[in-house]
Amino acid sequence: MALTKDWPPRRIVVLTGAGISKESGLDTFRDKDGLWSRVRLEDVATPEAFRRDPARVQAFYNARRQGLQDRAVQPNAAHRALARLQAAPRFETLLVTQNIDDLHERGGSTQVLHMHGELLKAECLACGGVHLWPGDLDTASLCPACAARGRLRPQVVWFGEMPLEMERIQAALAACDLFVSIGTSGNVYPAAGFVAEARAGGAHTVELNLEPSEGARLFREAHHGPASEIVPAYVESLLALAT
Ligand code: APR
Repeated sequence: MALTKDWPPRRIVVLTGAGISKESGLDTFRDKDGLWSRVRLEDVATPEAFRRDPARVQAFYNARRQGLQDRAVQPNAAHRALARLQAAPRFETLLVTQNIDDLHERGGSTQVLHMHGELLKAECLACGGVHLWPGDLDTASLCPACAARGRLRPQVVWFGEMPLEMERIQAALAACDLFVSIGTSGNVYPAAGFVAEARAGGAHTVELNLEPSEGARLFREAHHGPASEIVPAYVESLLALAT
C-alpha cells in the first residue's frame, strides 16, 4: 500500500549503509574507488585475519579510526534529516546502521543500532568488556577493566561473525509499516534480507541510493541520487504526511 495522509506510517525502520557517509568524506566498500578495491577484505575483516596478523588488522582500523576523527569528516544533511525523523513524535523510528562510524550520533540521532559495531570502541577478548577507544590499538594495548595485555580488538563485526541486535531488528522489521534502505549496495546479509522481511510483514519498502542496488527490484518505491539531497527530501515528505 502506498503511503498517504490517510495511511501514514507509524512504525518505521531505517537501514543505512556506507553511501550515507560518502559525502561526509568516508569511503564506501564496493564502489569503484571503495575500500575493497584497495584492500582484500580477507586480509583485514575476518577473525582469521586477526589471528594470522593482528598488527595488520589493528593498523587498518587505526587508520580508519583516525580518518573518522579528521576535522573534515562531519555529518551531512542526510544524517541530520534522519535525526529529525527520529525526533518526530508521530513516528516510532528505529535507525539501524551497518556503518561503524559515529556520524548518525553526531548528526543528532540519539538511538542508533550499530549492527556491525562501532569503530570508536574496543572489545576485550579476555573479559568481554567494551570501552570507548578513540586512539590507536596495538598488539600490546591494555584492557582498562581486566588489565589483560594484547587482547583488545576493534568492536566491529567481521565477516563470519554474527551482527549485533538481530532479535530486536527482526522484531521491528516484522512489525513496521515502512522500511527505508539508504546508501547500501545490498550485498551483505543479513542486512540485504531486511527488505524481504519487512515486505513479508506487510510494510511499504523504499530504496534511497545513488543508483539501483543489487536488490532494487524488491523495493516498492525508489529514489536515486546523492543521499544529502534525496534523504532530506524524502524525510520532509514523511513529516508532511504527519501534519
Ligand atoms: N548517496 C547515496 N548512496 C551512495 C552515495 C551517495 N552519495 N555514494 C555511494 N552510494 C551507494 C553506492 O551506489 C552503493 O550502492 O552506497 C552503496 C554502498 O555500498 P557498499 O560499498 O557495498 O556499502 P554497504 O552496503 O554499506 O556495505 C555493507 O559491507 O564490507 C562490509 O561491513 C561492511 O557494513 C559494510 C557492509
